[in-house]
Amino acid sequence: MARLITTTMQNGTVLHEVMKGKAMSKILVVYYSLDGNTEFAADQIRSITGADIEKLIPEREPTRSGFSKILEGGFQALIHYKPRIAHLKHDPTDYDTIVLACPVWAGTCPPAMETFLHKESFSGKEVVICATSGSGNADRMIDRIKALVGDDNTVSVTASLTEPLKDPDKTRQKLEEFCLAWAE
Ligand SMILES: Cc1cc2nc3c(=O)[nH]c(=O)nc-3n(C[C@H](O)[C@H](O)[C@H](O)COP(=O)(O)O)c2cc1C
Repeated sequence: MARLITTTMQNGTVLHEVMKGKAMSKILVVYYSLDGNTEFAADQIRSITGADIEKLIPEREPTRSGFSKILEGGFQALIHYKPRIAHLKHDPTDYDTIVLACPVWAGTCPPAMETFLHKESFSGKEVVICATSGSGNADRMIDRIKALVGDDNTVSVTASLTEPLKDPDKTRQKLEEFCLAWAE
Protein backbone atom coordinates (compact mmCIF):
# COMPACT_ATOMS: atom_id res chain seq x y z
CA MET A 1 0.00 0.00 0.00
CA ALA A 2 1.39 3.42 -0.92
CA ARG A 3 2.00 5.85 1.90
CA LEU A 4 2.18 9.59 1.26
CA ILE A 5 4.53 11.18 3.76
CA THR A 6 4.09 14.93 4.16
CA THR A 7 6.11 15.72 7.30
CA THR A 8 7.72 19.15 7.05
CA MET A 9 11.20 19.06 8.55
CA GLN A 10 12.65 21.79 10.76
CA ASN A 11 14.69 22.92 7.73
CA GLY A 12 11.52 23.26 5.65
CA THR A 13 12.08 20.19 3.49
CA VAL A 14 8.95 18.16 2.83
CA LEU A 15 9.84 14.54 3.47
CA HIS A 16 7.74 12.88 0.78
CA GLU A 17 9.80 14.69 -1.84
CA VAL A 18 12.93 12.94 -0.66
CA MET A 19 11.53 9.61 0.52
CA LYS A 20 10.93 8.63 -3.13
CA GLY A 21 10.86 4.81 -3.25
CA LYS A 22 10.63 4.62 0.53
CA ALA A 23 7.30 6.45 0.40
CA MET A 24 5.92 3.40 -1.35
CA SER A 25 7.19 0.92 1.23
CA LYS A 26 5.42 -0.14 4.40
CA ILE A 27 7.48 0.66 7.48
CA LEU A 28 7.02 -0.77 10.99
CA VAL A 29 8.91 0.70 13.94
CA VAL A 30 9.40 -2.03 16.58
CA TYR A 31 10.83 -0.79 19.87
CA TYR A 32 11.55 -1.66 23.47
CA SER A 33 11.95 1.02 26.13
CA LEU A 34 12.16 0.82 29.92
CA ASP A 35 12.57 4.51 30.82
CA GLY A 36 11.08 6.30 27.81
CA ASN A 37 14.19 7.41 25.86
CA THR A 38 13.84 4.86 23.09
CA GLU A 39 10.07 5.30 23.11
CA PHE A 40 10.56 8.99 22.36
CA ALA A 41 13.03 8.28 19.55
CA ALA A 42 10.81 5.55 18.08
CA ASP A 43 7.80 7.86 18.12
CA GLN A 44 9.79 10.58 16.35
CA ILE A 45 10.70 8.12 13.58
CA ARG A 46 7.03 7.15 13.36
CA SER A 47 5.94 10.76 13.01
CA ILE A 48 8.68 11.64 10.48
CA THR A 49 8.12 8.63 8.21
CA GLY A 50 4.42 7.88 8.74
CA ALA A 51 5.32 4.35 9.88
CA ASP A 52 3.23 2.05 12.05
CA ILE A 53 4.63 1.41 15.51
CA GLU A 54 4.78 -1.56 17.88
CA LYS A 55 6.05 -1.65 21.46
CA LEU A 56 7.64 -4.86 22.74
CA ILE A 57 6.25 -5.70 26.18
CA PRO A 58 8.06 -8.48 28.10
CA GLU A 59 6.02 -10.47 30.59
CA ARG A 60 8.24 -9.16 33.38
CA GLU A 61 10.43 -6.04 33.55
CA PRO A 62 13.50 -5.78 35.82
CA THR A 63 13.18 -3.79 39.05
CA ARG A 64 12.63 -0.21 37.91
CA SER A 65 15.00 1.69 40.16
CA GLY A 66 18.44 1.78 41.66
CA PHE A 67 21.37 -0.51 41.17
CA SER A 68 19.23 -3.66 40.99
CA LYS A 69 17.70 -2.37 37.75
CA ILE A 70 21.14 -2.32 36.11
CA LEU A 71 22.21 -5.56 37.79
CA GLU A 72 19.07 -7.54 36.95
CA GLY A 73 18.53 -6.11 33.46
CA GLY A 74 22.24 -6.24 32.64
CA PHE A 75 22.47 -9.88 33.71
CA GLN A 76 19.42 -10.84 31.65
CA ALA A 77 20.92 -9.11 28.63
CA LEU A 78 24.34 -10.72 29.11
CA ILE A 79 22.89 -14.24 29.14
CA HIS A 80 20.65 -13.34 26.15
CA TYR A 81 17.56 -14.13 28.19
CA LYS A 82 14.44 -14.35 26.01
CA PRO A 83 11.28 -13.54 27.96
CA ARG A 84 7.80 -14.11 26.58
CA ILE A 85 6.51 -10.92 24.96
CA ALA A 86 2.94 -9.71 24.60
CA HIS A 87 1.10 -10.50 21.37
CA LEU A 88 2.02 -7.99 18.63
CA LYS A 89 -0.69 -5.73 17.24
CA HIS A 90 1.04 -5.60 13.85
CA ASP A 91 2.29 -8.52 11.78
CA PRO A 92 5.92 -7.81 10.78
CA THR A 93 5.51 -10.02 7.70
CA ASP A 94 3.18 -7.33 6.26
CA TYR A 95 6.01 -4.77 6.13
CA ASP A 96 8.88 -4.08 3.72
CA THR A 97 11.01 -2.22 6.27
CA ILE A 98 11.41 -2.90 9.98
CA VAL A 99 12.98 -0.21 12.17
CA LEU A 100 14.40 -1.82 15.33
CA ALA A 101 14.77 0.67 18.19
CA CYS A 102 16.13 -0.34 21.60
CA PRO A 103 18.48 0.73 24.40
CA VAL A 104 21.90 -0.83 24.98
CA TRP A 105 21.86 -3.10 28.03
CA ALA A 106 25.24 -4.39 29.23
CA GLY A 107 26.62 -3.64 25.78
CA THR A 108 24.02 -5.78 24.04
CA CYS A 109 20.28 -6.16 23.27
CA PRO A 110 17.62 -5.88 25.97
CA PRO A 111 15.78 -9.20 26.50
CA ALA A 112 12.49 -8.26 24.80
CA MET A 113 14.32 -7.32 21.58
CA GLU A 114 16.33 -10.53 21.83
CA THR A 115 13.04 -12.49 21.87
CA PHE A 116 11.66 -10.55 18.91
CA LEU A 117 14.83 -11.03 16.86
CA HIS A 118 14.78 -14.79 17.47
CA LYS A 119 11.08 -15.10 16.59
CA GLU A 120 10.90 -13.14 13.35
CA SER A 121 12.35 -13.66 9.91
CA PHE A 122 13.84 -10.62 8.19
CA SER A 123 14.51 -12.31 4.89
CA GLY A 124 13.91 -9.94 1.99
CA LYS A 125 13.23 -6.97 4.25
CA GLU A 126 15.13 -3.77 4.81
CA VAL A 127 16.16 -3.43 8.46
CA VAL A 128 17.03 -0.10 10.09
CA ILE A 129 18.52 0.12 13.60
CA CYS A 130 18.05 2.97 16.06
CA ALA A 131 20.09 2.41 19.24
CA THR A 132 20.01 4.48 22.41
CA SER A 133 22.57 4.32 25.19
CA GLY A 134 24.01 6.17 28.16
CA SER A 135 27.53 6.22 26.76
CA GLY A 136 26.89 6.85 23.06
CA ASN A 137 28.57 3.55 22.18
CA ALA A 138 26.12 1.02 20.73
CA ASP A 139 28.55 -0.82 18.44
CA ARG A 140 28.37 -4.22 20.14
CA MET A 141 24.58 -4.18 20.29
CA ILE A 142 24.36 -3.19 16.63
CA ASP A 143 26.65 -6.12 15.76
CA ARG A 144 24.44 -8.45 17.80
CA ILE A 145 21.29 -7.25 16.01
CA LYS A 146 22.98 -7.62 12.62
CA ALA A 147 24.00 -11.18 13.49
CA LEU A 148 20.46 -12.11 14.60
CA VAL A 149 18.83 -10.45 11.60
CA GLY A 150 20.85 -12.95 9.64
CA ASP A 151 22.08 -11.20 6.56
CA ASP A 152 24.26 -8.11 7.02
CA ASN A 153 23.07 -6.78 3.69
CA THR A 154 19.52 -6.32 5.00
CA VAL A 155 20.58 -3.70 7.59
CA SER A 156 20.67 -0.53 5.55
CA VAL A 157 21.35 2.23 8.09
CA THR A 158 21.91 2.65 11.82
CA ALA A 159 21.42 5.56 14.22
CA SER A 160 23.05 5.77 17.65
CA LEU A 161 21.61 8.28 20.12
CA THR A 162 22.69 9.18 23.65
CA GLU A 163 19.67 9.37 25.98
CA PRO A 164 17.24 11.08 23.58
CA LEU A 165 15.07 12.60 26.33
CA LYS A 166 17.94 14.77 27.62
CA ASP A 167 17.44 17.10 24.65
CA PRO A 168 14.20 16.28 22.77
CA ASP A 169 14.63 19.06 20.16
CA LYS A 170 18.15 17.93 19.30
CA THR A 171 16.92 14.32 19.09
CA ARG A 172 14.14 15.32 16.69
CA GLN A 173 16.64 17.19 14.51
CA LYS A 174 19.10 14.27 14.53
CA LEU A 175 16.35 11.84 13.55
CA GLU A 176 15.11 14.09 10.75
CA GLU A 177 18.67 14.17 9.38
CA PHE A 178 18.88 10.41 9.83
CA CYS A 179 15.63 9.79 7.94
CA LEU A 180 16.70 12.08 5.13
CA ALA A 181 20.04 10.29 4.78
CA TRP A 182 18.24 6.92 4.89
CA ALA A 183 15.83 8.00 2.17
CA GLU A 184 18.49 9.21 -0.23
C1 LIG B 1 19.84 -2.67 32.61
C2 LIG B 1 20.52 -1.52 31.90
C3 LIG B 1 21.77 -1.70 31.36
C4 LIG B 1 22.38 -0.66 30.66
N1 LIG B 1 23.62 -0.88 30.08
C5 LIG B 1 24.18 0.11 29.36
C6 LIG B 1 25.44 -0.12 28.70
O1 LIG B 1 26.04 -1.19 28.74
N2 LIG B 1 26.00 0.91 28.00
C7 LIG B 1 25.38 2.13 27.90
O2 LIG B 1 25.91 3.02 27.24
N3 LIG B 1 24.19 2.38 28.51
C8 LIG B 1 23.57 1.41 29.23
N4 LIG B 1 22.36 1.63 29.83
C9 LIG B 1 21.72 2.94 29.65
C10 LIG B 1 20.61 2.89 28.60
O3 LIG B 1 21.06 2.26 27.40
C11 LIG B 1 20.15 4.32 28.21
O4 LIG B 1 19.85 5.05 29.37
C12 LIG B 1 18.95 4.25 27.28
O5 LIG B 1 18.79 5.47 26.60
C13 LIG B 1 17.67 3.94 28.04
O6 LIG B 1 16.61 3.79 27.14
P1 LIG B 1 15.09 3.71 27.64
O7 LIG B 1 14.84 4.98 28.41
O8 LIG B 1 14.30 3.64 26.40
O9 LIG B 1 14.93 2.52 28.51
C14 LIG B 1 21.75 0.62 30.55
C15 LIG B 1 20.48 0.78 31.15
C16 LIG B 1 19.87 -0.26 31.81
C17 LIG B 1 18.51 -0.07 32.42
